[in-house]
Amino acid sequence: MDFTRIKSIRTFIIAGIGCVSIYAWRRFIAGGRCYSQARLDGKTVIITGSNTGIGKETARELAKRGAKVILACRNVSKAQAAADDIRRSTSNDKVVVCQLDLSSLASIRNFAERVTNEEERLDVLVNNAGSSQTPRTETIDGFEMIIGTNHFGHFLLTNLLLDLLKKSSPSRIVTVSSDAYLWANRGIRFDDIHLKQNFTGFFAYGQSKLANILFTNELSKRLKGTGVTANVVHPGAILTELDRYAYNSMPLAFVTLPLLRFCMWFFGKTVVQGAQTSVYCAVEESIATTSGVYFKDCAPTKLKDFAQDEKAAKRLWDLSAQAVGLQ
Ligand SMILES: NC(=O)c1ccc[n+]([C@@H]2O[C@H](COP(=O)([O-])OP(=O)(O)OC[C@H]3O[C@@H](n4cnc5c(N)ncnc54)[C@H](OP(=O)(O)O)[C@@H]3O)[C@@H](O)[C@H]2O)c1
Ligand SMILES: *[C@@H]1O[C@H](CO)[C@@H](O)[C@H](O)[C@H]1NC(C)=O
Ligand SMILES: *[C@@H]1O[C@H](CO)[C@@H](O)[C@H](O)[C@H]1NC(C)=O
Repeated sequence: MDFTRIKSIRTFIIAGIGCVSIYAWRRFIAGGRCYSQARLDGKTVIITGSNTGIGKETARELAKRGAKVILACRNVSKAQAAADDIRRSTSNDKVVVCQLDLSSLASIRNFAERVTNEEERLDVLVNNAGSSQTPRTETIDGFEMIIGTNHFGHFLLTNLLLDLLKKSSPSRIVTVSSDAYLWANRGIRFDDIHLKQNFTGFFAYGQSKLANILFTNELSKRLKGTGVTANVVHPGAILTELDRYAYNSMPLAFVTLPLLRFCMWFFGKTVVQGAQTSVYCAVEESIATTSGVYFKDCAPTKLKDFAQDEKAAKRLWDLSAQAVGLQ
């Protein structure tokens, strides 16, 4: 018996099993992929919060397909850098930046006015930007920051762009929510929606993501027969800059945050994988008329009952319309 030979065969086998397991694991967590080859030449898309993270990769993917892509971001210099990068990697020079701060109703109105004056069409609106800010802060209009940005901001933006979307129909609205809506399993806190009495970062984020879903449910009903669809997405867990404010709030952040980031990296998707479901909802031909559906891993996914509550959706809509000054 040649002992060293057996040992090296054993090492080889163990290493092989290791590689296959890691590959299988990465494939398993990669989730669904958008296989559609649909092109977007001559079409215009807007993606909010697209200077980094999932939004940036969604923008890159849609730019690759030939669309004119408007990066709607609050920090113009960061967004210009992202636009340069996307133009370079896609050879599509129709990637432009337009300033939008979703925590300001004035900024949203200003943005929508520029778009409706300057653009002939709008084929896809991706409501992607998201905030998970802690501790509790307020927007300049007095909304709690997380729901103010994630829900109220996108509510007003979408409504102001509806005429252009309808004019360009068939067109699509994709709103990025999250399975974190489950953290608000007792529903929207209608008696204190801005969480003045009782704020936790988890609830605030969960409530805002539930609001994204209820908004889409009601919106899709109102859009019946217009050729405009509205769907909502859970991208998966992805290591992005979304936890940037956690340093202010997490106990022992200098240990817990690197640990959390390691877990998000190890157990989570890549940003490109995280963008797949948004891209799918924006381009996939077979769902051209599908509306009011929650997508996860590029497939329709059932929502918990409280997230399908039609009365809550209607109540949130009316409250939001009043809060942002829409008649
Ligand atoms: N990462 C995850 O695991 C995960 C899971 C489920 C759902 N999501 C959702 O996915 C979406 C994208 O998140 P991400 O993970 O890519 O996070 P990210 O890397 O933090 O990107 C968020 C984007 O939103 C922008 N933004 C924040 N506040 C804004 C405001 N007031 N006005 C305009 N833009 C604003 C940010 O701009 P700045 O760079 O200027 O701050 C950034 O571009 C969010 O809706 C999030 O809730 C993420
Ligand atoms: C915008 O981004 C740039 C580059 O990352 C940064 O230096 C600057 O402070 C940011 N501006 C604001 C207002 O946050
Ligand atoms: C405060 O929020 C927490 C978490 O959402 C909840 O469990 C608790 O019942 C709330 N307390 C009050 C007084 O509303």
